[in-house]
Amino acid sequence: MTTSDKPELSLVLYPDPVLRRKTPTVTVFDGKLRSLAEAMFEIMAAERGIGLAAPQVGRSVRLLVAAFEEEGVPPTALVNPKVVSSSGSVVMTEGCLSFPGIFAELRRAESIRVEAQDLNGEKISIEADGLYARVLLHEMDHLDGRLFIDLFSHAQRIRTRPALRELEKAWERRKKGV
Ligand code: CO
Repeated sequence: MTTSDKPELSLVLYPDPVLRRKTPTVTVFDGKLRSLAEAMFEIMAAERGIGLAAPQVGRSVRLLVAAFEEEGVPPTALVNPKVVSSSGSVVMTEGCLSFPGIFAELRRAESIRVEAQDLNGEKISIEADGLYARVLLHEMDHLDGRLFIDLFSHAQRIRTRPALRELEKAWERRKKGV
């Protein structure tokens, strides 16, 4: 693959409607899928993220990437991932590249097992806990059009309302091209 094959993609911010679309199952494992994953790894690294889902670069594709090597997680691309078991429950602070500046403490499962396919369509199974489980759960939600703000408590909604409103206004301005 050459650099010129790489799609020109950029980070999509809330409230772009692509973030609310449920992604269809991937059935074709080709160079286009691999190019998309590669572009996503680059954008994630540039934005200093540890996880990114395809809708966040404007593509409604059932693909996520994650990487945080300091935690022992090498760059990983998961296609059609699903949680097959989970246990425990833990509260952690969460953010999202599509919601710059917004963070909230959220409760999610502590340990999960995920079945997915790699970029060649081979079946893979991943055990994740702690931050890795958190990232995968957050990114898998993106693939179903669910966003972390959907998990906010009433108090978290009130606290983040002004920042969300700013993102909405910025999106309206971009849409109008001003
Ligand atoms: Co996110």
